Amino acid sequence: MIRSSQPGVRLRGLGKDYGARTAVGSIDLDVERGECFALLGPNGAGKTTTISMLAGVVTPTRGWIEICGIELGSDPYAAKVKVGLVPQEIALYEELSALQNLRYFGALYGLRGATLAERIDQSLEVVGLRDRTREQVKTYSGGMKRRLNIAAGLLHRPQVLILDEPTVGVDPQSRNQIFSTVRALRDAGTTIVYSTHYMEEAEALCDRVAIMDAGKVIASGTVPELVAAHTRDEVIIELGGDPAAVAEASRAACAGGATLHGGSLLHIGPSSRGLGSVIGGIEQCGAVVVRIASHQATLENAFLALTGRALRDEP
Ligand SMILES: Nc1ncnc2c1ncn2[C@@H]1O[C@H](COP(=O)(O)OP(=O)(O)OP(=O)(O)O)[C@@H](O)[C@H]1O
Ligand SMILES: [Mg+2]
Repeated sequence: MIRSSQPGVRLRGLGKDYGARTAVGSIDLDVERGECFALLGPNGAGKTTTISMLAGVVTPTRGWIEICGIELGSDPYAAKVKVGLVPQEIALYEELSALQNLRYFGALYGLRGATLAERIDQSLEVVGLRDRTREQVKTYSGGMKRRLNIAAGLLHRPQVLILDEPTVGVDPQSRNQIFSTVRALRDAGTTIVYSTHYMEEAEALCDRVAIMDAGKVIASGTVPELVAAHTRDEVIIELGGDPAAVAEASRAACAGGATLHGGSLLHIGPSSRGLGSVIGGIEQCGAVVVRIASHQATLENAFLALTGRALRDEP
């Protein structure tokens, strides 16, 4: 059953355990039809696991998935044909040419004859890959393989296209081509789920963003909403010198509206108004300004505020 008012993708309580490890806890998400939605998260956040469950290639441990109003668990075939997956690891046969690869993947979706030829042609056109289509894929550059990987996911004209880190290892020209492809598909009404670590990709392409970490969605919204909620423009002053003078200078600055972080770091913001008098006050107390830095309210800083700075493979 298709209910057209339904979102492109709806996830409720979706989770996956691998033995004792929870890769994805319990995710609730709605992606509207025709929306480009970013899944942003550090390594191991659970993006690929979520995407693989969405595409029907990993079975969830709990929860449910609806694609354009069709529940994946109850009607897997009908739901899966609505989805195109562009996987993180390039999934192409290196010994085959681009054309042979696309013929193979198209046939898996039941495309044959003139329809298959037309779809192959259109998919190659969309990703800007009309040359060298008869050469073996192993002779292609990384960017060409990435674009062919996308073409393979488009052949059956999916209503929901899922791209898992599609720009890893490509040059700026190929990246631009991939961006144009995603924008054109979104403008034509395709619902897009796009996983990335690159903030600028989420900012440039996506209507809304979910930030994932450790198997959870820890924040979601438009980029301006996330930036406003989780970071702000501020000036950071690091104090040094005699500890008693630092303590006195900090007290004076905090009385004037600054915030003290970690003993010797003063944060002043969101505007830097009053900065001159704060610095004057610090010097009057006999303390020293060791460093002044400005911290901008960007998606990257919101992301770091939410996810922290520790590497994900540290114990
Ligand atoms: N097949 C598997 N067996 C066991 N653990 C797995 C498996 N697949 C993923 N995991 C674990 O699940 C967690 C989430 O992994 P996932 O690949 O979904 O993260 P990711 O956000 O896509 O990371 P990356 O940005 O590095 O691609 C990790 O701790 C990973 O080690
Ligand atoms: Mg991944």
